[in-house]
Amino acid sequence: MKNIQNKTDLSNHIKDLKAKGKSIGFVPTMGALHNGHLSLVNSGLKENDLVVVSIFVNPTQFDNKEDLVKYPRTLDADIALLKTVSANNIIIYSPTVADIYGNNIVSQSFTFDGLEHEMEGAFRPGHFDGVGTIVKRLFEIVKPDRAYFGEKDFQQLQIIKKLVELHHLDVDVIGCSIHRAEDGLAMSSRNARLSPEHRSAAPFIYKTLNTAKTMFGTKSAGTVTEWVRSQFKKQALLELEYFIIADITTLKPVKRKSTQKSYRAFIAVYAGDIRLIDNIALN
Ligand code: PAJ
Repeated sequence: MKNIQNKTDLSNHIKDLKAKGKSIGFVPTMGALHNGHLSLVNSGLKENDLVVVSIFVNPTQFDNKEDLVKYPRTLDADIALLKTVSANNIIIYSPTVADIYGNNIVSQSFTFDGLEHEMEGAFRPGHFDGVGTIVKRLFEIVKPDRAYFGEKDFQQLQIIKKLVELHHLDVDVIGCSIHRAEDGLAMSSRNARLSPEHRSAAPFIYKTLNTAKTMFGTKSAGTVTEWVRSQFKKQALLELEYFIIADITTLKPVKRKSTQKSYRAFIAVYAGDIRLIDNIALN
C-alpha cells in the first residue's frame, strides 16, 4: 500500500494512473479511522479503480485549540486498518501541515449561499472556511472523479456540494449514510476520548432523535424542540448545545411544516468536554 506524504509525488502518481485510464475516488479524513470512514472507502472502491484516502488533521478548521491538540492521531493503526480493506487499490496521502499550507496556516474566506451561517457555522466560527480551504486544496491535488462524504456531517456534505457548484469543480460529490455503533451512537473519532460514563450516556442522543422523528409526524417543530430540550435537562452527563429541525436544502430552521419539503433534525451535545454531533432524516 502506498503512503505518500508529498503533494507533488501524489499528483505525479495520479497523473500516471489517469493516463492509464484509471478512475480515482477520494475520501478525505482526519484519521483515527473507524468503520464510518471505512464505509466511505468501500463505496469508493466499488465505483472507482483506486481510492485516495487523505489523513490530515486540518488546523484551520478547529475553532477550539484544545480540540486540535487532543485530536487523536493514530497513523500506523489507520494504515493497518486500510490494508484490511484493500491491499492494492488504496493510496494514502498523509501530508505534513507544511506540505499543505507552507508557513501560512490560514484559511480562505468562503460564502456558501448562507449554508455557512447555520448550526455548526454559528457555533464554530471559521470552521467552514477551514473545511472549504482544505477540501478545495485537496481536490486540486488529487483531482478525483468522485469524492465521498458522510451524512454524519450533513451540513459539511451540503457545503462541499455548494463549493463544487460555486467554484465549478469537476468532481462528483457522493453522500454516504451514517454508520453507528450497535447501541446507536454515531461513530466518530472523538468517541475514543469519551470517559466510560459518558460513553454509556451518549446513545441517548440517537434514541432522542428517533423519538423526535416519530413526534414530528404529528407535532410542530416547536413542540418537538421543546420536548427534546426538556429531555436533555434531565441528563446529568449530557449538555445540549442545539437541537434544530431544518430544511435539508437551505439548512434554515423550519417555520411552518410543508409536505413539499424534506427536513432533518440536527443535534450537538457536550458529553463532558467532548462535543458530539448527529442528525436524522425526518420525512
Ligand atoms: P473526519 O471527521 O475524519 O470525517 C471524514 C469523513 O468521514 C467525513 O465525510 C465524515 O462525514 C465521514 N464520517 C465520519 N463519521 C462517520 C460515520 N459515523 N458514518 C458515516 N460517515 C462518517 O470530516 C472531516 O474529517 C473533515 O472535516 C474533512 C472533510 C476531512 C476536512 O478536513
